[in-house]
Amino acid sequence: MDTIYKWFNERLPISNTFERHLSKHPVPKKVNFWYLFGALASVVLIVQILSGIWLMFGYENSEEGAFASVEYIMRDIDYGWLIRYMHTTGASMFFAVVYLHMFRGLLYGSYKKPRELVWIFGMSIYLIMMAEGFLGYVLPYGQMSYWGAQVIISLFGAIPYIGESLEIWIRGDYYISGSTISRFFALHVVALPLMLIALVFMHLVALHEVGAGNPEGIDIEKHLDDDGIPLDSVPFFPYKVLNALVGIGVFGTVFAIFMFFFPEGGGYFIEAPNFEEANPLSTPEHIAPVWYYSPYYSMLRAVPDKLGGFVVMAAAVAILFVVPWLDRSKVNSIRYKGIWSKIAILLFAVSFITLGYLGTVPVTEIRTLMSIICTVIYFSFFLLMPIYTSFEKTSVPPERL
Ligand code: HEM
Repeated sequence: MDTIYKWFNERLPISNTFERHLSKHPVPKKVNFWYLFGALASVVLIVQILSGIWLMFGYENSEEGAFASVEYIMRDIDYGWLIRYMHTTGASMFFAVVYLHMFRGLLYGSYKKPRELVWIFGMSIYLIMMAEGFLGYVLPYGQMSYWGAQVIISLFGAIPYIGESLEIWIRGDYYISGSTISRFFALHVVALPLMLIALVFMHLVALHEVGAGNPEGIDIEKHLDDDGIPLDSVPFFPYKVLNALVGIGVFGTVFAIFMFFFPEGGGYFIEAPNFEEANPLSTPEHIAPVWYYSPYYSMLRAVPDKLGGFVVMAAAVAILFVVPWLDRSKVNSIRYKGIWSKIAILLFAVSFITLGYLGTVPVTEIRTLMSIICTVIYFSFFLLMPIYTSFEKTSVPPERL
């Protein structure tokens, strides 16, 4: 056995790669709850890929067959209901975990030098995840699949000059049809997952190049032992692995509770109209996206002009990419930032959650006004960041963890 291992190792960097990325690499010895979500996101990614492959065994990507094949998976295939609910619950859990993971980044300035690329890869993952979730939601070809796709694709139609052709190009037809399902299926099961896996790989390689951050926002590389290993670090295995396993156990329990007892997530994971087959002649009374897109949907509805709404929505995501260059603070962590940063991040979180809620309910005059106010707060958090982070009084972080 040893000889075989040696033979391979002399030709492939197996043990080197394993030690560098999965066992020996030093990680900060003191992190907190917020640092678990990267590991949880990795677990959900695997769950989604595996359950997705199993769903493909029974799914039919055609206009006539899509909805019926999902019913067939749910009713006739052994444990098909479990696989499907694993995938739908997984989608919501993926976003929940990634939103918390991103918020940790904002709290502790994880995006700051030298982790800007880790953040950019992370944001690219988020962008692909948003597309992946949308395409997947269209596949069962229920009422919300159809009408949700109608709303989103028609946004591209608002782009001057090229809009109409772009819409036809995306749909592959003059209306949403079997051609649309075929291409969405190919993108959802092959193209985007490949991109997602490649980006997660780059995200982690970049992270291991610069080393993980910590809630104090300090550089542990400043104090090294004789072997050049940070004094305030522990090896990934067994310390962080055991730590993550506890988190994965708790998370798995929450996941299972939803999957077995509340698979529709109170209408937030799977919306009621999606239990009816797509009908181009009957619009559902109230079209709303699933919860993880709803903050952006509120922004879209807050702007009366379709193109303007689309631009605001795109800008809301785009602005997150440049956060590393908007934050001018001397310190990384919210613990040592000044009062303005603390107020700003609180208002930002409240406005994002409020926008999320508003995006799931029908519009009224007062709700539109609230959406406008929250959209303004959302953008102010980012646009004013260079100002409040430069001028506020910060406190001094400790030297060591
Ligand atoms: C499939 C989705 C993702 C996976 C599997 C993933 C995985 C990970 C893992 C395992 C870590 C190290 C452990 C930790 O700090 O939690 C990490 C760190 C990090 N991630 Fe992600 N991530 C994902 C998405 C994102 C997104 C969307 C962003 C933000 C835009 C992001 C930003 C970061 C940053 C800045 C760090 C470094 C934190 C630090 O060391 O201080 N990640 N990620």
